[in-house]
Amino acid sequence: MTARPHPWYATAFGAHYPLLYRHRDAAEAQRCLDLLPALAPFGDGPVLDLGCGHGRHLALLGRQGVRVVGLDLSPHLLAIASAQTPRHPLLRADMRAIPLAGGTCAAVLSLFTAFGYFGDAAANAAVVAEIAHVLRPGGHWYLDFLNSVRVTAELAAGPLATEREQGPLRVRETRRLDANPARVVKEVSLAPLPGRDDEAAGWGVPLPGVRYAEEVALLTLAQLDAMAAAAGLARVAAAGDYAGAPLDDDSPRWLLVYRRGGKEDR
Ligand SMILES: C[S@@+](CC[C@H](N)C(=O)[O-])C[C@H]1O[C@@H](n2cnc3c(N)ncnc32)[C@H](O)[C@@H]1O
Repeated sequence: MTARPHPWYATAFGAHYPLLYRHRDAAEAQRCLDLLPALAPFGDGPVLDLGCGHGRHLALLGRQGVRVVGLDLSPHLLAIASAQTPRHPLLRADMRAIPLAGGTCAAVLSLFTAFGYFGDAAANAAVVAEIAHVLRPGGHWYLDFLNSVRVTAELAAGPLATEREQGPLRVRETRRLDANPARVVKEVSLAPLPGRDDEAAGWGVPLPGVRYAEEVALLTLAQLDAMAAAAGLARVAAAGDYAGAPLDDDSPRWLLVYRRGGKEDR
């Protein structure tokens, strides 16, 4: 586990997160959930949404009758998830130490890049080991990750900066590549718009504002497959977007399904 006292992901997924990612809505979550069981069935048993955030997938899965458990580190996002899906168990924990008994989950979901936060491949392998531990034999890990080839190509010419108004906030973002380990860094600066301080404070952004830098490891497919294999997981399906297009270097997403080996008990 990291020794950093206040890592970036403790700030980035604060109360403001649902406002910044408002476009990542229930309709998109539904498209993702329509695809995943078509790539490989969830199986009979609890599904763990690892890094469930404010619960947009939890709510939909619950409505489909799936037995689902959410885990996240952010108290702000878990509070929203709890209000929206009061019937489903929610765990506040670090994904490198999942507080569930080994071999109990039929599926683990890591959706919308809820992965790759801890540094190099070895550091992120701690998450894969935990996932493999809680999966039952024959269970599946569904990873919805960024396409690191495409992101690297997009930012090869240099950083990309954007600025926008979102609700009561001015949002400035700069995306750039960094090395050792290879990663994409997004520097984010949030500040209340003039005269909207109270509203901004309600989204967790007091004056003079909030700054942080998100970092996601640019893991290659080969690295992801190797990390999974080291934990006893083999890739059994893949797609390049939520509609199920084939995966290639230009795919918007990498949707990867890994199966835990071993003898199934059902
Ligand atoms: C990009 S968001 C995705 C959220 C959700 N899966 C969705 O699609 O809306 C990543 C999530 O991972 C959670 N997270 C970040 N670091 C974590 C950690 N160390 N342990 C558990 N959850 C973590 C964040 O709080 C956030 O909710």
